[in-house]
Amino acid sequence: MSTSSVAPLQVTSLTTTFVSRHRSVDVVRGVSFTLRRGETMMLLGESGSGKSVTARSIMQLYGASAKLGGSVTMNGMELLGMSGSELRSLRGGQVALIPQDPTGALDPLRRIGAQLVEVLNVHGVETTKPAARRRAEELLAMVGIPDPKRVADSYPHQLSGGMRQRAVIAIAVSCDPQVLIADEPTTALDVTVQAQILELIVELQQRSGTAVLMVTHDVGVARDFGGRIGVMYAGKLVEEGPAAQVLGDPKHPYTAGLLAALPTPGVERGHLRSIVGAPPPVGAFPAGCAFAPRCPQARPSCHEQDPPLVDVAPDRSAACPVVNTTVGERAA
Ligand SMILES: Nc1ncnc2c1ncn2[C@@H]1O[C@H](COP(=O)(O)OP(=O)(O)O)[C@@H](O)[C@H]1O
Ligand code: SF4
Ligand SMILES: [Mg+2]
Repeated sequence: MSTSSVAPLQVTSLTTTFVSRHRSVDVVRGVSFTLRRGETMMLLGESGSGKSVTARSIMQLYGASAKLGGSVTMNGMELLGMSGSELRSLRGGQVALIPQDPTGALDPLRRIGAQLVEVLNVHGVETTKPAARRRAEELLAMVGIPDPKRVADSYPHQLSGGMRQRAVIAIAVSCDPQVLIADEPTTALDVTVQAQILELIVELQQRSGTAVLMVTHDVGVARDFGGRIGVMYAGKLVEEGPAAQVLGDPKHPYTAGLLAALPTPGVERGHLRSIVGAPPPVGAFPAGCAFAPRCPQARPSCHEQDPPLVDVAPDRSAACPVVNTTVGERAA
């Protein structure tokens, strides 16, 4: 078996099409990446670029409302086409999702402890109630909850947003998943709590070798987190590589634009160079390179040919035929 076929997560040419009675829209349009043990992959892109749909498609959360294509394998096992019961035993066990909004991830009518106990029981991690209850409190302590007993006996609405998100993380990591998908896990939280939660995810990852797929629209978060980055635009990866290299020396004009829009010390707000225009809406992606209408380097051919993601440097790829000739100029 090749090493890539036993990667905790391998996504190959993933496509997601939402199908309704009146129309079908392609949202994810051929995303490929490999996540190895202990590795972090960040999906970075503006709102609406298809990051959450990619994450939720990997988890197979759309049922009949979406048509998925390509392949998603975990340790070489194909997930696309799996039965509902197979998927249910995988989700929360081998692969877990920390969603953006902790509210929807918790049952408002049940105490946190009972929700943790159930997950531990269902996945066979702890088979007796008392053992599961002890483990639940350990997990709550592990995610930095100072009074795990009280929190275990609380209902979600009795906790702060930060504490609720910690409880969601405790549930997500309770069965020691090999793959943890975190979809903007800190967006709803204030900056201090945000940093703590991100640190917590790194800690958990280092402790148990979990592979983490992290979704964010925030370049700052991407920079802090490290690992690899896939930059997403209009349902495709337009650039991929080690985070430090991609953020330090972006190859794709879209990545360069995202970084140029960041506030830099000494530059007044209002003088930020942001990318002109807005991303195209789903169902109306332009022909050729989807970034062409906003790209300062666009050539006539960009409006006709959709460039594939190709190697542009060792361990790095980008989907723009112009980058090789402009990398030097842009840096100047
Ligand atoms: N269930 C759905 N049905 C139809 N369209 C959807 C659905 N979920 C998301 N979309 C559309 O897919 C696009 C990408 O959404 P999303 O992945 O949530 O973006 P983001 O990168 O901000 O996470 C958006 O235009 C959104 O409206
Ligand atoms: S292919 Fe053309 S339009 Fe697309 S990013 Fe490259 S230069 Fe810009
Ligand atoms: Mg999202």
